[in-house]
Amino acid sequence: MRIDILTTFPEMFAIQPPAALGVSIPGRAARAGLVEIVATNIRDFAANKHQKTDDRPFGGGPGMVMMCQPLWDAVAHAEAADTVSPPRPCTRILLTPQGVPLTQRLVEDLATRPRLLLIAGHYEGVDERVIERLAPLEISIGDYVLSGGELAAMVLIDALVRLIPGALGDEESSLADSFSTTPQDPRPLLDCPHYTRPRDWEGASVPEILLSGDHARIARWRLEQRLARTQARRPDLLAPWPTAAPSSHPNPGVESPVSDGEALP
Ligand code: ADE
Repeated sequence: MRIDILTTFPEMFAIQPPAALGVSIPGRAARAGLVEIVATNIRDFAANKHQKTDDRPFGGGPGMVMMCQPLWDAVAHAEAADTVSPPRPCTRILLTPQGVPLTQRLVEDLATRPRLLLIAGHYEGVDERVIERLAPLEISIGDYVLSGGELAAMVLIDALVRLIPGALGDEESSLADSFSTTPQDPRPLLDCPHYTRPRDWEGASVPEILLSGDHARIARWRLEQRLARTQARRPDLLAPWPTAAPSSHPNPGVESPVSDGEALP
């Protein structure tokens, strides 16, 4: 899988020397060639003297708006560049607080795509005209505002990489992660509590059942714990799922096509 990031801070995505994605599971996956992470500086595509990528908003107001031209040209460049020929189709994604919420379901869907192009918007926003032309899937990582889309892009990449076969070591598994589902159990449950040595720590002991060696009982206990935790902490996850209601959001989420944006030259 290849993930391109368009940003004005490409150094944030360095694998070597490592920045945030160059360590732990994403770093290992990148070095093993399971995922190719390519950050492109939007500034390199600014066709103006000062390599400006942003300008003041029409109509006034605070902040700066990302301009159409540098972003459009950066997307054209990134999409045409691939290590396989012909270039794989790209799912375009804009990280923005106005997007559809990022969920484990959406991450699972995106993990099946051959190539993602993440656009990390900055400043007060991105000129709406280039968003309309590119028609990216707009994704938010939560109802709060970050200074830019970079950290949101990293959150998405980290969650995705965990799902790539081979990314987790033998002792790790994404199947028991919070929110993960299986065809046998489609409920997105929280994780159960975990314990390791010592058996007694300052008067606190490990639940007896985990020391019993009875794997069927342990599995049952863990499932009960997951259900109880989910009920106590996130009852919304256990509520019956709404059936596909028509969404007025421009990005209906997981059902989105690979890209319905305008093809670039
Ligand atoms: N950019 C700024 N805030 C964001 C958020 N909450 N999610 C995704 N991208 C963002």
